[in-house]
Amino acid sequence: MMPYLEEINELLVPCHTEQAVVLDLFAGCGGLALGFEAAGFKTIGFEMDGPAAESYRHNLGSECYAVKLEVGFDFPQADIVIGGPPCQPFSVGGHQRGMEDARDGFPIFIDAVKRLQPKVFMFENVRGLLYSNKWYFELILEEFQKLGYLVDYKLLNAVNHGVPQNRERLFVVGHRSSFSFPAKEKHRITVGEAIGDLMHTVPPESKFLNATMDAYVAKYEKASHCINPRDLYPDRPARTLTCRNLAGATGDMHRVRLPDGRRRRVIVREAARLQSFPDHFEFKGNETNQFNQIGNAVPPMLAYHLAQSIKACYALPEGDAKAIKRSKVKANRELTLF
Ligand SMILES: C[S@@+](CC[C@H](N)C(=O)[O-])C[C@H]1O[C@@H](n2cnc3c(N)ncnc32)[C@H](O)[C@@H]1O
Repeated sequence: MMPYLEEINELLVPCHTEQAVVLDLFAGCGGLALGFEAAGFKTIGFEMDGPAAESYRHNLGSECYAVKLEVGFDFPQADIVIGGPPCQPFSVGGHQRGMEDARDGFPIFIDAVKRLQPKVFMFENVRGLLYSNKWYFELILEEFQKLGYLVDYKLLNAVNHGVPQNRERLFVVGHRSSFSFPAKEKHRITVGEAIGDLMHTVPPESKFLNATMDAYVAKYEKASHCINPRDLYPDRPARTLTCRNLAGATGDMHRVRLPDGRRRRVIVREAARLQSFPDHFEFKGNETNQFNQIGNAVPPMLAYHLAQSIKACYALPEGDAKAIKRSKVKANRELTLF
């Protein structure tokens, strides 16, 4: 098996071998798009944050329009539509107002699918959409079914797909043929494999936890019944990286413990590697912009595996969604009988 760093640095490189055009809505810095580009697709991004769109263009060599999307936006033709509609309305920390939230990206995503009629679409979102906002998720599924798509969805943990991080997200795929989510990998990549060469060093941008912060973190961990400090450990995968625990000095901020006992917050390159961004990927904007781009991203390695599954689905002939559903039910019934 190839060492982790070698693998992400060699594999996660854009290579445009496929004809299909992929539109990436709410594209961020292009974590999802990088996986698709490494699998051979040419992507076009749409992202309202200037520095994130700049990172996308710089690293993927593909266009990313720095625009605020709205319902009715005039997109170019596409074969596949992917994206990460904003998830603030659904996160456990948010107010969970769903569709009434002005930041909700789903009406835009559904409208794009309705007008572009791509052969396949995929979106990513937080797991809350399956739980406290299940009613809203069902509404979204209904919209796609009305448009004639079969919809498959699954919670995937990035740690099962070559990423050194426990990160569970919902992936939803619409198609008119057959789709299978990527299989789990046996080997779980550890923090040590990803940042072992960096985590005991003191880079110039290091931010150390002072005594007040140490005390605050200890109080936070006691209150959340945490037995071991939530530092990064070289023999395990990392906790989920988010914009908040990377860019903010919070109780659960990601940090490493140095051999002399001091603790420092993770640096941008460490966070990037824990999300499976290759070392050649340069993030644009200031440090906060960069942490936000990383915390928001779909890990490119997981995106690569998903893109391979989508490539297989895209190659199949399309059928009538209702007829396919009926034949699937019949096949399942026969399997149960025999
Ligand atoms: C979860 S992030 C997407 C991450 C991306 N899929 C990746 O893998 O890097 C959602 C992005 O949507 C952008 N966004 C939110 N509302 C938008 C809108 N109306 N138009 C364009 N971009 C928007 C945010 O700036 C944010 O970067």
